[in-house]
Amino acid sequence: MAVAGFGWMGRVHTQSYLRVLHHYPQLGVRPELVAVADEVPGRAAEAADQYGFTTATLDWRDLAADPRIRAVSIAAPNFLHRELGVALARAGKHIWIEKPVGLDADDARAVAAAAREAGVQGAVGFNYRNAPAVEAARELITAGELGTVTHARFRLFSDYAAHPEGALTWRFERARGGSGVLGDLAAHGIDLVRHLLGDILSLVADTATFVPQRSRPSGATAGHTRAAGGELGPVENEDYVSSQLRLASGARVVLEASRVAVGDQNNYGFEIHGTRGAVSWDFRRMGELAVSVGDDYQDQPRRTVHVGPAAGDYAAFQPGSGIAMGYDDLKVIEAYRFLRSIIETKPYGATLDDAVHSAVALDAMSRSVESGAWVSLT
Ligand SMILES: NC(=O)c1ccc[n+]([C@@H]2O[C@H](COP(=O)([O-])OP(=O)(O)OC[C@H]3O[C@@H](n4cnc5c(N)ncnc54)[C@H](O)[C@@H]3O)[C@@H](O)[C@H]2O)c1
Repeated sequence: MAVAGFGWMGRVHTQSYLRVLHHYPQLGVRPELVAVADEVPGRAAEAADQYGFTTATLDWRDLAADPRIRAVSIAAPNFLHRELGVALARAGKHIWIEKPVGLDADDARAVAAAAREAGVQGAVGFNYRNAPAVEAARELITAGELGTVTHARFRLFSDYAAHPEGALTWRFERARGGSGVLGDLAAHGIDLVRHLLGDILSLVADTATFVPQRSRPSGATAGHTRAAGGELGPVENEDYVSSQLRLASGARVVLEASRVAVGDQNNYGFEIHGTRGAVSWDFRRMGELAVSVGDDYQDQPRRTVHVGPAAGDYAAFQPGSGIAMGYDDLKVIEAYRFLRSIIETKPYGATLDDAVHSAVALDAMSRSVESGAWVSLT
């Protein structure tokens, strides 16, 4: 394995490769950390020291050329996804690429096409669908326990860009980040909507930028760095989006995402209503579902269910209900599905096609903001 881009996600992918056999001994193959690439001097070398990669490089192209490498995690900023994704797939490497897969749907399509043509697997970092409680919610819905899903709300609220001294990193530039909270958080929301409730037919959206200027950082950044007093530059993409979606099933969805939601940290989740029941989930209480099922329709109570070994991949982590799993565990599940895809040469988990669907919906949101009208996705 190799990792391209060693910020937050590069680190989490690496830790997942190291942990995957602890949880999935049936994989039968121990991923070997061959190389890590990061353009910031010293960052890849430090990663190699800490995690045991045999090679560290400043240039991701070395990964494409290295015959020891069979698969690459692409965890660099969005503007590099297309270039790295296409080149590495063409070099015959399986790719586990972070969302949103490029700056727009064209980029996502290009990476998906390159992987298809090269016959390599392409996994995408839509980790929230891997949460066992989300899988349990999906089963409830598929089994008809809620009746017919009528309407739902999906929310992704965070405050990582709320501080006025938050640095003007790649995330806030069109050329390097693409969209703002659309690609960053709403991408996950769209994937959850599709995973749980099916295809989106059309949508209308509204966006806003509430922090219009930020200080340029004086050096290399990773994550959400502060930069006080530097030269100010414009924030080129949106801080906030609200959107209404019409689904092929007839269900209606409200999706809202913010990166400047003071007081909310990783407040991600959904509330789904059906003709007979309801289910809701909050990422911060990842193992819990609030479920209302029965025949009462009115005054039907809602119970808190702590999911357990029967839900999704929970049993790979904990032996009994109510033991908390963490964000990194979702990435271990993703790593397992990616590696299993390679071994069995068929996809498990979120794929590049899912990334294309998500990117198409995000592009449609941008078009809707420009026109003020509903946009069809079909
Ligand atoms: N799935 C999730 O929940 C999730 C969470 C956070 C970020 N992401 C995605 O992961 C990607 C990376 O985000 P992050 O938060 O880790 O960002 P980050 O800024 O922390 O890290 C990006 C890293 O890429 C490196 N890099 C930049 N240019 C490079 C180049 N040419 N070659 C090699 N390395 C280069 C940077 O030096 C940095 O170390 C983004 O696409 C983001 O959307 C996904």
